Amino acid sequence: MLIIANWKMYRSFTQARVWLSEHSQELSILAQNQNLVICPDFCSLPLFKGLSITVGAQDCSEHAQGAYTGQVSAQSLKEAGARYCIVGHGETRHANFTPQILARKVIAALTADLTPIICVGDKLANTAPQEAIAEMFPDLVACAQAIKQSTIPTHRTLIFAYEPLWAIGSGVTASIELVEAITHDLRKFAREHLAHYQTHVIYGGSVTSETLGSLRALTSLDGFLVGKASLDMQELKKIVRLCS
Ligand code: PGA
Repeated sequence: MLIIANWKMYRSFTQARVWLSEHSQELSILAQNQNLVICPDFCSLPLFKGLSITVGAQDCSEHAQGAYTGQVSAQSLKEAGARYCIVGHGETRHANFTPQILARKVIAALTADLTPIICVGDKLANTAPQEAIAEMFPDLVACAQAIKQSTIPTHRTLIFAYEPLWAIGSGVTASIELVEAITHDLRKFAREHLAHYQTHVIYGGSVTSETLGSLRALTSLDGFLVGKASLDMQELKKIVRLCS
């Protein structure tokens, strides 16, 4: 199973460097798990060079280059060592965020040879599965259309992360029934609209070694996007072990 560790803005450059040197032995063992991806902040990406741990970025600009102060291009992230890129994470969606912006970020990531981790999710708890998927539909359609109209080769991999906004950082994990229903629908969408691409479906939102218990049995899930819990080495090791 795929485990994406999203460090968010919890560790500074120096803290990341210290953490990496303190845990170098455990990390080299974890690195044998090819399905672990760590997403530190932008500045810390180069710290992982030579460490054989796969790294991802937490966001990228929708633009390739130009007068976009404060933004980071997918190409620059690739050059800094990233192989994956989270796009559309709930914490990066500002008020004017649109499905078209998400789609452009997906294309930017793919063009720079990064595997996009496309985050979609419902905003409010207790939304019925059908309404939840309907809420995500504009994002899914915009991404599928943009990919189809692009020249991105069909062998590329796309990862859809079901991340209910109400479950991110709240300590409340979505129920197994909801995750099963949504991941089933996401797979169906990918089969119908992105059949030539390799797609994976993962879940994120308050995942810990404890909440993982029943979710990891779901055959519709290919892995997890883990935020806060991934910062603790012991917890990360447990999660990796549970998912191996
Ligand atoms: P969390 O974050 O595990 O801290 O809820 C998940 C995420 O935002 O990717």
